[in-house]
Amino acid sequence: MPVIPVISASGGVGKTTISLLLAYMLTVHVHVDPRRILLVDLDPTAGLSLRVFGDDRYDEACRDRRTLYHMDLDFNVRNVRIDEYVNFPGRSAEAVSNVAVLPSGEDDKGDLSTRIEEWFRYGRRERLWDVLEGSGALSRYDYIIVDTAPFFDARYTIIAVSASERAVIPLRPTVTDVKRTRRMVTALRKHRIAVSPIFVFNFDKGRLAKEAATLASMGYGLPRPGRANPDPKLRTLIGELAVHGEVAASALVHYKELSDAEFPRGRLGDRIAIAACAPTVDLFRALGINAPPCPLEYEEE
Ligand SMILES: Nc1ncnc2c1ncn2[C@@H]1O[C@H](COP(=O)(O)OP(=O)(O)OP(=O)(O)O)[C@@H](O)[C@H]1O
Ligand SMILES: [Mg+2]
Repeated sequence: MPVIPVISASGGVGKTTISLLLAYMLTVHVHVDPRRILLVDLDPTAGLSLRVFGDDRYDEACRDRRTLYHMDLDFNVRNVRIDEYVNFPGRSAEAVSNVAVLPSGEDDKGDLSTRIEEWFRYGRRERLWDVLEGSGALSRYDYIIVDTAPFFDARYTIIAVSASERAVIPLRPTVTDVKRTRRMVTALRKHRIAVSPIFVFNFDKGRLAKEAATLASMGYGLPRPGRANPDPKLRTLIGELAVHGEVAASALVHYKELSDAEFPRGRLGDRIAIAACAPTVDLFRALGINAPPCPLEYEEE
């Protein structure tokens, strides 16, 4: 089960954060060799690449042609090896310093979106899989995590899911996000794109008190849910969403240590690693990855 797409219906719901967290927790909690993990940035705006490398090093990777964009161009004309295209964060992202990263990539002529247009023009939805297989990535890595652009442009989701139907889907526990997420899953299935969703709630519980209380009233684990009144309409919607896939029993909530200002720049302290453990382990188990139990139940903030 090597490829893990991370997809979403809304933007900014935590795909990139969760992709990085999965890679980090695979190393610190499941004790996977970081060199056996590949993070693929399948987002033409290069959110993950920029977060991990910063602007200058991302630009350098593009100039050195060490990106998915360049790998795909080269794959058209010759045999490629994944090792020619990956970059290691090192000191720029200590939490994932030895994890291989395939940045999205761009140059004066275009970016990943121009490649994806071509893939679709020629009906090559399986192209990501083909490139990963052809470059030896599928055997070189035990886990390939694919961060994507949101479903507003369905092509990124479709390509990622065509490489593995078992997809991690972060969302906020809001009426809008739950409805959108259900619509995305339904639309994919309607177009005969197989997807087995693993939903995970990720949100700022300080801002979404009613939503936190609703999740808690439904038995989802989250730290200090507060005393707001649960929302019956949201409850029904979340209940309906659960029919479409698995839902992580613990929610991830926002911590400043997980924000892009801090993570993966530095390793997570014990408190946050423990707080993020339960939802991450839920995802690992749903993905069929054998993970040990978390050291403690949720810590207080
Ligand atoms: N659990 C979290 N704790 C703290 N901050 C978070 C958490 N999840 C997301 N964020 C913050 O929310 C913002 C959006 O998160 P992120 O970039 O991971 O979302 P995304 O789904 O990848 O967005 P996009 O659709 O734009 O690619 C970022 O600033 C990120 O740091
Ligand atoms: Mg992102």
